[in-house]
This record gives sequence, structure tokens and C-alpha cells, in this order.
Amino acid sequence: MGLFGKKLKQEHKVMLQAERAAGAQLPEYHRATPECPHPERWSMYDSMTAEVEVLEFLATLVTTVKPELIVETGAFLGVSAVWMARGLERNGFGRIVSCEFDPVVFAKAQEKITASGMAQWIELRNASSLEMTVDGTIDLFFSDSDLEIREQEIRRFLPQIRPTGLILMHDAGSHPGIVREAALRMESEGLISMVLLPTPRGLVVGQKREGRT
Ligand SMILES: C[S@@+](CC[C@H](N)C(=O)[O-])C[C@H]1O[C@@H](n2cnc3c(N)ncnc32)[C@H](O)[C@@H]1O
Repeated sequence: MGLFGKKLKQEHKVMLQAERAAGAQLPEYHRATPECPHPERWSMYDSMTAEVEVLEFLATLVTTVKPELIVETGAFLGVSAVWMARGLERNGFGRIVSCEFDPVVFAKAQEKITASGMAQWIELRNASSLEMTVDGTIDLFFSDSDLEIREQEIRRFLPQIRPTGLILMHDAGSHPGIVREAALRMESEGLISMVLLPTPRGLVVGQKREGRT
């Protein structure tokens, strides 16, 4: 229970937990899945922020494919945006447009991004991924907002994603399966090609089919 006995929204609860943990790493506690039977071998900061190894992977992906424009949906406390920004800093160019729908979480994320020293690489917007517009062609799209709307997000931004670009969908494990099913549906419709990485929460690494050479 939060202030005045009101039930705290999950994002706010995890935000307070993350404050208290002050950056300490824990063994990942997402439930085991058939594809990832030992989640405790991975590390996490909290249940909202991507697994530490996935954050490392994101930074490495940025230095590997050298994107000019990254779009992220669902910033939470800005941790994944900051890790990708470290990749951009190493590359020496590029930008991230990230959005966070919840105004309280957005304010905290903005504070953390400023404190990280990476603000010059990140444009954080207090907006919904289903409404925001971004200028330019997207080289890396990281879908990490509410599970139920990931499919809508991909379909919405697909025309703007470069055929050589990458589409990442987090939380694509077989539990709870919503994102995985959405990704499989888009693959079966011929919209994307993908691999499903067997991480604790699951990660799709995909590419759009249209325009692929
Ligand atoms: C899983 S967390 C993001 C974690 C973050 N990417 C990281 O790894 O550090 C999901 C966030 O998406 C936000 N969110 C949910 N629906 C959204 C939407 N339609 N547009 C933007 N943000 C949204 C939630 O408020 C929450 O903070």
C-alpha cells in the first residue's frame, strides 16, 4: 500500500524498490521457462529494467551495427536507454528517441538520464508509443512498453524501420507468452523474420521482410 492506503501501480512500486536497491544486482527471478530453465544464472537490477546481460547486449549491438536512429518504447527509469547511449558515445554519432507514458516515472527517468551524463544522446518524451511520431528512418527499434501493445507498436513503426535495421522485442519468453505470440504472428504473416533468444524474459531479434535484399 502506498500513501493514503492506495494500491501502488506496479511501475511505481518497482521504481521505489529500485531506489532502495541503489543499483545492486540480484539473481534474475523471472520464473524458469522451457527455453530458459536457469534464469538465476542471469542478473537483474529490478523486474522492470531489462536483465543486466540484455543491457550489455544492447550496448554491444549499438557498437556493432552503428545505428543513427534508435527508437525505444517504455523507458521506465531510463537504464536501457543509458546503456544504448554508451554505445552511441563510443560510435561518436546517433540518437535515441525514447518514450515513457507514466508522468511520475518519466520525471524520475529524466533525472536519472541527466545524472548519467548521457543526456546528449537521449531524447526522452512523456508520450505513448502509440501516439508519438518520430522523424527519420529507424535503425534499431527496441519495443519494451506494456506487453499487450507491443504488436501494435511494431505494426505502427514498421514502415519507418530500415530494411537492414533491427527490431528487438523484450519479454518474448514463453511465459507469459503474449509478446512471443505477437512476434510469431507477425512472422507467420511475413512481416518480420526473427530469432528468439532464450534469455530469462525472452528477446526477439528481428528484421522486417519488406525491402530485404
Ligand atoms: C519494462 S518497462 C521498460 C524498461 C526499460 N526499457 C529498461 O529496460 O530499462 C516498461 C515501461 O513502459 C511504460 N509504458 C507502458 N505503456 C507505454 C506506452 N504505450 N508508451 C510509452 N511507455 C509505456 C511503463 O510505464 C513502464 O515504465
